[in-house]
Amino acid sequence: MKPRVFIPRAVPPEVETYIAEHCDYFMWNDSVPIPEEQYLRRLAEADGLLTTTSDKITREKLDHAPNLKAISNIGVGYNNFDIGEMKRRGIVGTNTPGVLDETVADLIFGLMLAAARRFAELDARIRAGRWSPADGSSLFGLDVHHRTLGIIGMGRIGEAVARRGKWGFGMNVLYYNRTRKPDAEEELGARYRTMEELLAEADFIVLMTPLTADTRHLIGKNEFDLMKKTAVFVNASRGETVDEQALFEALRDRRIYAAGLDVYQEEPISDSHPLTKLPNAVLLPHIGSATQSTRTDMARLAAENLVAALGGRQPPNVVKELLD
Ligand code: DGY
Repeated sequence: MKPRVFIPRAVPPEVETYIAEHCDYFMWNDSVPIPEEQYLRRLAEADGLLTTTSDKITREKLDHAPNLKAISNIGVGYNNFDIGEMKRRGIVGTNTPGVLDETVADLIFGLMLAAARRFAELDARIRAGRWSPADGSSLFGLDVHHRTLGIIGMGRIGEAVARRGKWGFGMNVLYYNRTRKPDAEEELGARYRTMEELLAEADFIVLMTPLTADTRHLIGKNEFDLMKKTAVFVNASRGETVDEQALFEALRDRRIYAAGLDVYQEEPISDSHPLTKLPNAVLLPHIGSATQSTRTDMARLAAENLVAALGGRQPPNVVKELLD
């Protein structure tokens, strides 16, 4: 008998075909999210769950899933997993590292440029019929090239951002990470700094650390106070790595120059959120990996992880906290 898989959000046709070869499955194929009651009913029958990082895997959900053996995230983050509960129940958890690095790095660089050169604010200005005042200096922004890039969380994505900065824009690269990265130091001339040193020296600060108990609100008022007044802050990790109120105040009071954000404490962010009122915040709806080709690669890798786990094999991408 084939294992049963539940897919609460549609995957590309070729990935669905792959799943169909190996599993019996139910896939929710609607543009509106699956209602909670139907989600729980489907989960109750499932041996495997192929899902996304916005699907919070709570103890209550797991209580509805007596047969569940594996949860495969279509995403590199896995802060949606309740690791303790999954461990206790012997449920395998996997993610999709590697295939999205360059796509997310592109987006981060876009946010750096957009925030420094005020793309969103000036685009809105044109749409409002205000091309340019007589004194063009009010449209000025900041240079990105040859400035100092500070990366907090030098994983694969951080390194892809560093390469763009170093080789594309002639930037000096600083980084802070739990462990030193000799390869990045050699290849990119990246220099290790303490967090405090990096915050004080960098012109562009990119936060790319995973969300864990240790990194929740890693950046708050004290950290914004250490930054230059001309600093541009970019967050494409998880919203909860930043104290959002402190970020709002730093931007509102111009204690930093601008921010580019792809993630928020609560998603979706409401259109009345204070950050939406600030001209110096560029806001994107959590689209770091959102290109057709990368999302397809992620879904394929997640499906392969799941099929391996349900077939009793070690999937290539078990999250490290759940490895034996
Ligand atoms: C990831 O892969 O973790 C992205 O943030 C999408 O959730």
